[in-house]
Amino acid sequence: KKVLFVASECTPFAKTGGLADVIGSLPPVLNQLDDIETRVILPLYRSILTNWRKQLVKVTSFDVSVGWRKQPTSLYIMRFDQVTYYFIENEYYFSRDDVYGYEDDGERFVYFCEAVISSLPYMNFQPNIIHAHDWQASLSLLFNKVYSNTPKMKSVLTIHNLKYQGIMLRESYHDLFRLDDEHIAGMEWHGLLNCLKAGIYHADKITTVSPTYAEEIKTPYYGEGLFKCLQDRSKDLSGILNGIDTKSYHPKTDQSIRFKYQYSSSRKRLNKLYIQHKFQMEIDPDKPMYVMITRFVEQKGLHLIERILDQFLSEEDVQFIVLGTGEYHFEHFFYQMEQQHKGKMIAYLQFNEKLARQLYAAGDFFVMPSKFEPCGLAQLIALQYNAVPIVRETGGLKDTIVPYNEYTHAGNGFSFSHYNAHDLLAVLRYSLTIFKDQDKWYPLFRNVTKSSFSWELSRDQYVKIYDQILGVGPSNVR
Ligand code: GLC
Repeated sequence: KKVLFVASECTPFAKTGGLADVIGSLPPVLNQLDDIETRVILPLYRSILTNWRKQLVKVTSFDVSVGWRKQPTSLYIMRFDQVTYYFIENEYYFSRDDVYGYEDDGERFVYFCEAVISSLPYMNFQPNIIHAHDWQASLSLLFNKVYSNTPKMKSVLTIHNLKYQGIMLRESYHDLFRLDDEHIAGMEWHGLLNCLKAGIYHADKITTVSPTYAEEIKTPYYGEGLFKCLQDRSKDLSGILNGIDTKSYHPKTDQSIRFKYQYSSSRKRLNKLYIQHKFQMEIDPDKPMYVMITRFVEQKGLHLIERILDQFLSEEDVQFIVLGTGEYHFEHFFYQMEQQHKGKMIAYLQFNEKLARQLYAAGDFFVMPSKFEPCGLAQLIALQYNAVPIVRETGGLKDTIVPYNEYTHAGNGFSFSHYNAHDLLAVLRYSLTIFKDQDKWYPLFRNVTKSSFSWELSRDQYVKIYDQILGVGPSNVR
């Protein structure tokens, strides 16, 4: 099998969210199998060109049409960590400071998808499967289907987040696409054009990143206006849980953390002391430390935190640290909380990978009350570093965190079900009572040290889907 991943971000090259981690960590584990080769194609953003210039090799240059305009395009290749990467270069669309957030994002990724299909003859690699991720890559599935001069590949679309769909004005159709009107059907949406919808329409199989989210998105509440299309494709839609790179995220070897540990709560505590010292908080190994590491967007449940954090911090003897950036409104709120609860609350309003790892290692609890969560990687990382996740039962959070039962001692975290601030407050208080009771805390902590979500299991589910669409039948050879 030859699989081409099409995506807009990938660690270590360009990252705005969890998508990059998945694109960076799944292909290497797929490629460990004998009968599959996965390659990845990405836009060559300015930052990639600057940081990786020496390793990039130019394959060729050609023109790509966006509507009636020709765009000069270069294809680059690079080998890194068992995977071959291709990069699409076009100065006008991709030599910019940020990955997204431009008025013409729609057009930029129409171009990208056109360029991906135009690159195929120059790759020296004939994929039989094209695997697109999220809206930015979705149109490659449309072009794969309708251009008669390219070999057809079977196709998979993975939805990492249904909220972002790539919506453009209907009027841009003739400006941006070289297609007859009949092809508009799969992407028309309330009088607009919707890139993700085109992917859902044209993919042979659709996956999303957890089984629960695959069910949720077929309902109006989680369906972001596309639940009917997803219901129509229900037969071909499934959920495959993300894994994380358990080698990189390991407290025994992580170079970012001060005191390495494994299965040891006493060594883990040294990391808490280190953070307390670093942020001039009260130094006390027994003080419960709650950590949040997140983008500041509504999805992550910050409206709930906003309602109850002041009360929680006023009433309880705890420490709370938030790391992240995002919407100003939330940044301001956390800053205010820090001012009001000096010494107990820290708001570190930056994206900082090293500090993130130190906080996973320091925290007793990891708070993630998402409104919706396709999979969620942070709770998986928290488990790796033995910080007990406190989550809302939605999407991948529901599939990975089992609420602790203090009588049977089963479970690896705490959870609540309704999107309600006082339910969150109640579960935060409850977590504290368990923390203070050694006989209950210890079994929970042990369960957490045993939870691990590596890629191996999920990898086999992707392979199964590839086999299905290629008609290879159930493969039991690996
Ligand atoms: C998106 C989702 C997140 C998921 C990630 C990787 O960022 O919001 O839940 O884990 O994609 O699939």
